[in-house]
Amino acid sequence: MSKMLLGVCYYPEHWDEAMWSSDVSEMESLGLSVVRIGEFAWSRLEPVEGQYDFDWLDRIIQLLDDSNLKFILGTPSATPPRWVLDKYPGMLAWDEHGKERGFGSRRHYCFSHTGYRQLASEMAGRLAQRYGSHPSLYAWQTDNEYGCHDTTRSYSPHALMAFQKWLEDKYNSISELNQRWGNVFWSMEYNSFEQIELPNLTVTEPNPIHKLDFFRFCSDQVVVWNKAQVDAIHNYSDAPIFHNYMGRITDFDHFKLGEDLDLATWDSYPLGFLEDRSDRPSSFKHKYQYTGDPDFQAFHHDLYRAVGKGRWGIMEQQPGPVNWAPHNPSPASGMVRLWTLEAMAHGAEFVAFFRWRQPPFAQEQMHSALKRPDNRPSPMLSELKQLKEDLNSYDIQKIKSQSINQTLVALIFDYESQWAWEVQPQGEDFDYFRLCYEFYCGLRMLGLDVDIISSDCTSLKQYEMVLAPGIFCINDNLIALMSDYRGEVILGPRTHTKTTDFQINTTSVSQLMELPLVLDMVETLRPSASRVIDKVGIFHRWMEHIQHEDKALEPVIHNNNKTYIAGWPDENTLQNILITCLERANIPYDVQQTSTRIRSKFVIDYMMEEEFRELSI
Ligand code: GAL
Repeated sequence: MSKMLLGVCYYPEHWDEAMWSSDVSEMESLGLSVVRIGEFAWSRLEPVEGQYDFDWLDRIIQLLDDSNLKFILGTPSATPPRWVLDKYPGMLAWDEHGKERGFGSRRHYCFSHTGYRQLASEMAGRLAQRYGSHPSLYAWQTDNEYGCHDTTRSYSPHALMAFQKWLEDKYNSISELNQRWGNVFWSMEYNSFEQIELPNLTVTEPNPIHKLDFFRFCSDQVVVWNKAQVDAIHNYSDAPIFHNYMGRITDFDHFKLGEDLDLATWDSYPLGFLEDRSDRPSSFKHKYQYTGDPDFQAFHHDLYRAVGKGRWGIMEQQPGPVNWAPHNPSPASGMVRLWTLEAMAHGAEFVAFFRWRQPPFAQEQMHSALKRPDNRPSPMLSELKQLKEDLNSYDIQKIKSQSINQTLVALIFDYESQWAWEVQPQGEDFDYFRLCYEFYCGLRMLGLDVDIISSDCTSLKQYEMVLAPGIFCINDNLIALMSDYRGEVILGPRTHTKTTDFQINTTSVSQLMELPLVLDMVETLRPSASRVIDKVGIFHRWMEHIQHEDKALEPVIHNNNKTYIAGWPDENTLQNILITCLERANIPYDVQQTSTRIRSKFVIDYMMEEEFRELSI
């Protein structure tokens, strides 16, 4: 594929059929070539159990096909209709407080309900049977945004039964579980797997390994759920299958889920994310309120490129104000175009806008779209016209060879570590995602492109430098890869300080650093406090006290090709540490980049910097 495609999310079932034809012709004339349909339409596809209506879907697909538009078909399992609940009253998810969730929005199902899982995969199979070999089918989307609205972890009776079975498969005997969980503590020993409850509603904190195993189980349930649909589709269709992920959803392992899929897409809402899920201080949010966090999108592009094994796209791009963040400003003029081009610079094969027309009814009536509810164009349409021209003038192969293929630095992102430190933050603001993100931003501020890779990656050799901050337990795969790796490795804080059974790993630092180091103590600091270490810098949130032969060591130590950071450095300190390591690895960097808003090298070199200068900060 030589050119990135543009697309849109379309809900024909929301509109009078008389509008479909002109909608489709207008999409075509705007330069859109991929249209996603179907992902929430179950109540129109099967209004009553067993009574199917695919005729309307046939007609819209025919119209798309007549205009040479490709379609993405979403399986509708994120919105089980009301009759499904009558059929399976136990299918609802339960929240952490033991409350059953209600019908009336979406994502209300429990991943462990096998009846609903079966029904949803049958619907996926039925769609695949009918449309799976359609020449205009671009790809399948399974479900919609797993984990969104806090839905990965369900505390339902079905989840409990499945968790007990998962534990039995993992530990084989209850004595093995008792021993590895350390259940002698507080007399928590069990006599059978049936006695084990979910780790909510305990009086004080549950055993951390109980919680971590539950989080692992919940992630596995998402993978199993998704695989059921993938298998059902594969029975009838060879078209690629993907799932559309969200920003900063970390409670299932996207790498594991991605193994069953052909590409990854994600839903990019830069202004919504800055308001709704960013750790940045409010002065930063104020500064970037109309342009979005300069690194947040790039981080996810790089993450999902790895999850998609190189193939990825944007399934939903914010086109104007959204409706779901605490405040919903409008993007600066030119921003939607810039976000789209930035995705291209990171290797996206398509960017689709959410959504075609703003609906005057229901939950998302205040969410902007390409067209207004009265069918007039929204302000964003002029940027779309410009994008059509942009895409004709860029050569994506050249972009890829000049940007992504030359990435010298990799950051390992490990979902289990997110869960581990959620279970035991020790200081309430220790967050693994945030730690990785700050390292990522630090590198980008030095003008570097970064690959994000999984801890199950097969090689590190293509990189000159690899960062593994905060991985709670480095797996055998990584230990082996690191042992004959010659590039620069940056570890810590907290790296490899636990075993997989969530017990303290007493030799961790010394093992990783190949130095007989001793970790004497860790402390966590209040937001107002920090530790200033002469000639090293300032550390906040997390501080490790390390020593060698009874001599206290500074919190940044280098040995051979490894660097260990025994604390959470502030922005300047991190910058200095990164610069030292880049120099050790002979990797060129550019401090000037800190002043450029879009930091991908490609964007700076090729994206008409002049035109975007007003958006650069
Ligand atoms: C996404 C979701 C869409 C729509 C959109 C609104 O998270 O996939 O269905 O709700 O947000 O911004």
